Amino acid sequence: MSKLQGTAARFLSLSSLGRALSACHFCLHACLRTFERTPEHLARGQYLAENLGCFDCHGERDWTKHNAPLIEGTKGAGPADFPLKGFPGRVVPPNITPDQETGAGNWSDDQLARAIREGIGYDGRTLFPFMPYPAFRHICDEDLASVIVYLRSIPPVRKSLPKKEIIIPIKYLIRSVPEPLTVPVSQSDLSTPLKRGEYLVAIAACTECHTPQAKGQPIRGLECSGGFILDGPWGRIASANITPDPSGISCYDEAIFLGAMRTGFVRARKLNQIMSWYNYRYLTDEDLKAIVVYLRALKPVQHRVDKPNPLLHANCAASATARVIRTDFVPVYSLHRKQPAFPCLEIIGNCGLAHSTGIAL
Ligand code: HEC
Ligand code: HEC
Repeated sequence: MSKLQGTAARFLSLSSLGRALSACHFCLHACLRTFERTPEHLARGQYLAENLGCFDCHGERDWTKHNAPLIEGTKGAGPADFPLKGFPGRVVPPNITPDQETGAGNWSDDQLARAIREGIGYDGRTLFPFMPYPAFRHICDEDLASVIVYLRSIPPVRKSLPKKEIIIPIKYLIRSVPEPLTVPVSQSDLSTPLKRGEYLVAIAACTECHTPQAKGQPIRGLECSGGFILDGPWGRIASANITPDPSGISCYDEAIFLGAMRTGFVRARKLNQIMSWYNYRYLTDEDLKAIVVYLRALKPVQHRVDKPNPLLHANCAASATARVIRTDFVPVYSLHRKQPAFPCLEIIGNCGLAHSTGIAL
């Protein structure tokens, strides 16, 4: 499989099964939805849209800064080309502001709803699954209504963006990704911290970024154990193991997790800005605490992922005695591959975490 196909397969794999859809299907089930513009929907929608990272992709960010701030006037519109490397073509997050000509001003609530949860664009085309609709399908009906009511309220931005261009055959292959939602997604169960955490982790697509892949498929048994590579203006970085294993975040307590999400630092170690702590930082204490309860209930997976911060490694006594310190560090973890796809690297594991918490790994 070519590299490009591999990349596409990776995105395809975000959906568990593919099912072809016909335009008729939608009209039978859901063409007429409109959502009530209530203050409750508006507030909940803002909370979700901003904290679920809609504007990480639908907006231009200054990736040179640790909190990757949104560039003024781009909320909901742009960039013309998403800067993540490795796409099979040009991927363009469309303008979803209420601008009538260049944005979503003329799309119905229902068209937006289908795009967000089911992956079908306003014009009936299949969306490239980098738009995380396989994760968003878990958003319950009320929350979806809220997100849409909020999207209608953001300032319209007049900005034409280029059309996406996905290479053949990927362009056709993605048509099997969307899954129709034929029954209502009932109110999410937030009755216990564990359930609340499960819902938030699902709709925030944490698992998609935190699961390693081989040949474009998530590796079964390594869910949430890190090693997924994100390459762009923020650097080349592997996601972290967030399971409660010593190679993951077993030594996290609630305070470390809240600190990481609120400041972008795990004690002394700075997190790369593609990990969008600057969105999650506005989640309420109740929601963040629920997320950590859920993460700590995950099956521990032993999977050491290199940390990208050479400076910290250089300062880390544990690694200095045992490992060679490299400054040309490429954060790729390869234990799960027999033949690493990249040059072999030192496995320093969670040295940064060990360093900052005093726990030797
Ligand atoms: C990881 C990046 C990413 C995130 C996060 C993201 N989107 Fe998208 N979105 C995209 C891309 C890329 C497309 C275009 C896909 C295509 O054209 O095939 C898209 C398409 C859409 C569309 C379809 C527009 C149309 O053509 O009909 C809507 C609506 C949308 N996104 C809304 C949202 C909302 C709301 C959120 C947050 C809840 C969100 N997106 C989060 C990347 C993202
Ligand atoms: C766009 C991809 C992406 C998404 C979405 C994402 N993460 Fe991350 N996350 C990363 C990357 C990459 C790192 C590694 C950053 C580093 O090492 O500097 C990371 C690091 C972390 C860490 C720090 C672990 C450590 O090394 O101590 C935690 C905790 C974490 N993520 C939790 C989450 C949670 C919870 C969610 C969902 C609410 C989430 N992430 C969503 C990419 C992502």
